[in-house]
Amino acid sequence: MVSRAENELLTRTGPGSPGGDMMRRYWHPVALSEELPPGGAPRPIRILSEDLVLFRDDQGRLGLVEKLCPHRCADLSFGRIEDGGLRCLYHGWLFDINGRCLDQPAEPPDSKYKDEVRHTAYKCIERAGMIFAYLGKDPAPVFPEYEFLGAAEENRFLVRTSLECNWLQALEGNIDPSHLSYLHKPMAPVDSRAVPGSDKSADAYYREDTRPKLEIERTNFGVRNYSIRNAGDKGKYLRITNFIMPNKAAIVGNEGRVGQGYSLHWHVPIDDENNMRFDFIFNRARPIDRSRYNKHHETERTPDGRHVRNRANRYLQDRELMKTSNYTGMGDYFPVHDAYATESMGPIVDRTKEHLGSTDICIVAARRALLNAIAAVEQGNDPIHVIRRPEDNDCSNIVVVSEVIANEVDHKEFWKQRVHKQKMAVPA
Ligand code: FES
Ligand SMILES: [Fe+2]
Repeated sequence: MVSRAENELLTRTGPGSPGGDMMRRYWHPVALSEELPPGGAPRPIRILSEDLVLFRDDQGRLGLVEKLCPHRCADLSFGRIEDGGLRCLYHGWLFDINGRCLDQPAEPPDSKYKDEVRHTAYKCIERAGMIFAYLGKDPAPVFPEYEFLGAAEENRFLVRTSLECNWLQALEGNIDPSHLSYLHKPMAPVDSRAVPGSDKSADAYYREDTRPKLEIERTNFGVRNYSIRNAGDKGKYLRITNFIMPNKAAIVGNEGRVGQGYSLHWHVPIDDENNMRFDFIFNRARPIDRSRYNKHHETERTPDGRHVRNRANRYLQDRELMKTSNYTGMGDYFPVHDAYATESMGPIVDRTKEHLGSTDICIVAARRALLNAIAAVEQGNDPIHVIRRPEDNDCSNIVVVSEVIANEVDHKEFWKQRVHKQKMAVPA
């Protein structure tokens, strides 16, 4: 059980909070590259309860600085991109991507005052169509070499969604394998592709075995989760998903159901009551079928990355649909079901009220990993999965599996067979 004090530790990530200090040891995505095109307007963003401005300078370099100008606090996101930086509209002070003040045009020409002013600025890097930032103290850790970042552009689909709840309860929806037999269930069998090793789809197994056996394993990146469903004569339907410190999950998703890729959900706190979910959906075997994802995005999402079905309109639940179409009556777009489940708990769920069951072992293990990480940082140490040396930058043990295997195969060894397969398939 989580105490009130532990719940505070786990959910608060603002500057100076223990959870915030822990979060600031890791890189986080802050925007899709397409949201900040070269020559585009600076973008106000809020992350870890800090108000910031993301911009590209006139050489295309990325900057992430505090939103309010250090002169008299006008909003820099309205500023001009020119002369090697971002210029405040109010009195023309100019800041580069490192927070140095390059110009104070209203000060006397011989003034050295600009050299004394240093604006808060954070490191950014751009990888795989996404912009990442590091909001902690120097030195920044090495950026992890995740498999999904190696997917070619045509093999990946990226999307960002704003969610109205604390980051952790949203994340926990990804490491909860038993909910697949309920929350996302279609009311009639759907015609989807068979999982490897079987002639049945994942949906068929969710429907037939609603009590998966769960096991966990603590790893150097977080927690590896095993869920096993009965596959009759063929053996067992094995799913392996991963909690990756501190705020992401590698789950099966559409591409992973047939063993060709997976979905990575990265939940970045906006503040303590809101989070942004960045999804990397990739297929290592073939180009992504964009029409499949775009179909939902056109009808279920607003242009600024919110769900059309939301808490305010009760997710447009239709009780007739519940009889014939889907379990929730909220349409067939899975992220809406997950948003209902996690947003409806309230902005920050009170975990002292929970009654955890046997299906919650993955969530318990993830919370424990996070509390250990917070304690490590409080003691001045790095938490797990903060990578300091390039030679340690090996994430190949993060493996997602959706496959039917024989009962006698040791599922805890099985993922190792898929490491090699993934490495071979990653584009150079
Ligand atoms: S407030 Fe920005 S230059 Fe004065
Ligand atoms: Fe879900």
